[in-house]
Amino acid sequence: MTPTEEIARRRAFAIISHPDAGKTTLTEKFLLYGGAVQLAGSVTARKDQRTATSDWMELEKKRGISISSTVLQFDYQGYRINLLDTPGHKDFSEDTYRVLTAVDGVVMVIDAGKGIEAQTRKLFEICRRRGVPIFTFMNKLDRPTRDPMELMDELETVLGIQAYAMNWPLGTGSDFAGVYDRGGKQAHFFERTAGGAYRAPETIHDLGAPAVRARFSDETYARVAEELETLEIAGSEFDQEKVLAGQLTPVLFGSASNNFGVQLLLDSFLAHSSPPRSRVAAGGRVVEPTEPAFSGFVFKIQANMDPRHRDRIAFVRVCSGKFTREMAVTHAQSGKRVRLNSSHKLFGRERETVDEAYPGDVIGLVGHAGFGIGDTLTEDPAIVYDEIPRFAPEVFAYIHSQSTSQFKRFREGLDQLLQEGVVQGLKVADSMRQTPLLAAVGPLQFEVVQYRLESEYGAGTRLENAPWGMMRWVAPDTDTEALGGALPSGSALATDADEQPVVLFPSEWAMGYFQRQNKAVELSATPFQKAR
Ligand code: G4P
Repeated sequence: MTPTEEIARRRAFAIISHPDAGKTTLTEKFLLYGGAVQLAGSVTARKDQRTATSDWMELEKKRGISISSTVLQFDYQGYRINLLDTPGHKDFSEDTYRVLTAVDGVVMVIDAGKGIEAQTRKLFEICRRRGVPIFTFMNKLDRPTRDPMELMDELETVLGIQAYAMNWPLGTGSDFAGVYDRGGKQAHFFERTAGGAYRAPETIHDLGAPAVRARFSDETYARVAEELETLEIAGSEFDQEKVLAGQLTPVLFGSASNNFGVQLLLDSFLAHSSPPRSRVAAGGRVVEPTEPAFSGFVFKIQANMDPRHRDRIAFVRVCSGKFTREMAVTHAQSGKRVRLNSSHKLFGRERETVDEAYPGDVIGLVGHAGFGIGDTLTEDPAIVYDEIPRFAPEVFAYIHSQSTSQFKRFREGLDQLLQEGVVQGLKVADSMRQTPLLAAVGPLQFEVVQYRLESEYGAGTRLENAPWGMMRWVAPDTDTEALGGALPSGSALATDADEQPVVLFPSEWAMGYFQRQNKAVELSATPFQKAR
């Protein structure tokens, strides 16, 4: 296969959702359809399998949430799919944001009984800003749902994206008979699959066929026929260009736990989503995936993923050229030449050496202590990708080692976790403390720090809450001495890990007050771009 063909068959995407909408279930079902996992015929076996493939962190099991993203690669109908799993909890949004910088499309899962929820909205905004294709899966159709027309309207009014129903539910809840595929003009009947362990058998019929009519009451049939007519007359038109630009979302209905509608979703996604796209690097340089020079960027770093290999992995999204093991590249941030010899593909706990990779793929590189999040690796030193945005933390705490004898391990672990970006580390001006102030978007991030220090470094810790509730970056050329004098009481000056000045405020109110009084001071919820 030529490099161009390799690129064309690749898809890199993520699933986003509010917790509990069905992201994990859908991920599993994609893997099932891709033949990447063999799920046995019982619920118990399915749960075992789930443990084996995604629960590699104890805390994940304990909290029932996915904390660290995994990258799953599988083949389906000639496509090579890289599915980047995003943590679903709102407290981990920074990690999620980073993953979303590495994908070319997303599937947004919505619980059709609930509609758009807070987290869906937040994540959607990030994806929209990147202008990538967004597909919508309305899940849990086997249960009573909200009116499908209303759900479509909500996408347009709440999220402000045009929506096109690729298929349409035939009844809901106990009345749910299946979906009508508008493109194929056929009804796909729903059959519950015990435990959702097998591919759903789908029987396909024309809508007017007696077998279809017999499935539901005259009333339901009439309503569905009317809804379909309304969609034809008043609904959005399908427009592939708009899909690629992230302006129109194809909508598919189904039930992930019953495997129903999953294949239609996967087929539709593969047909209408985008292969790896060009990327704009620093200085406006457009990097095409087909360029011969290899380039990629680190979007995630994690240490100790597997107790059997206690090491640090930098996950790199390949953006152009071809990666080959042992190749020498430039690490843009240090200017050093490095040889990439320990490259892996990960599937849950399993590792496999990767000899080559193409744009759209993700590789895990082991043993490069100097790599940081957002760093560029490239054969063409003119390519430097922009930094991955950071977000203003809202919770702050100091962390202490519980015993002096563990202090060394504690410090080593904390440095590692700060480098991974699990939380941000700040230095408060005039502080005599030995450890940085920890800053996070949500308190659960602190729990992860404590948990990992204990389980990976054997260091027990104690948290001490700090009295701030809001942080803003100030322009690097600000006169910080004068600024310090003007701050309201309870506020403090600090510097972030890149030595950029920040202000800590006790509350949003205090920040607003300060800003009204000091209009000339430029505050930002994201860091100011560093001069290169
Ligand atoms: P998340 O990753 O988005 O947080 O959601 P997850 O897949 O874990 O699903 C949340 C719950 O919703 C799970 O139930 C799951 O089985 C259920 N679910 C997913 N898809 C469907 C569907 O199509 N129909 C129905 N009725 N339920 C669905 P749970 O009780 O928390 O877990 P489990 O014991 O079923 O695994």
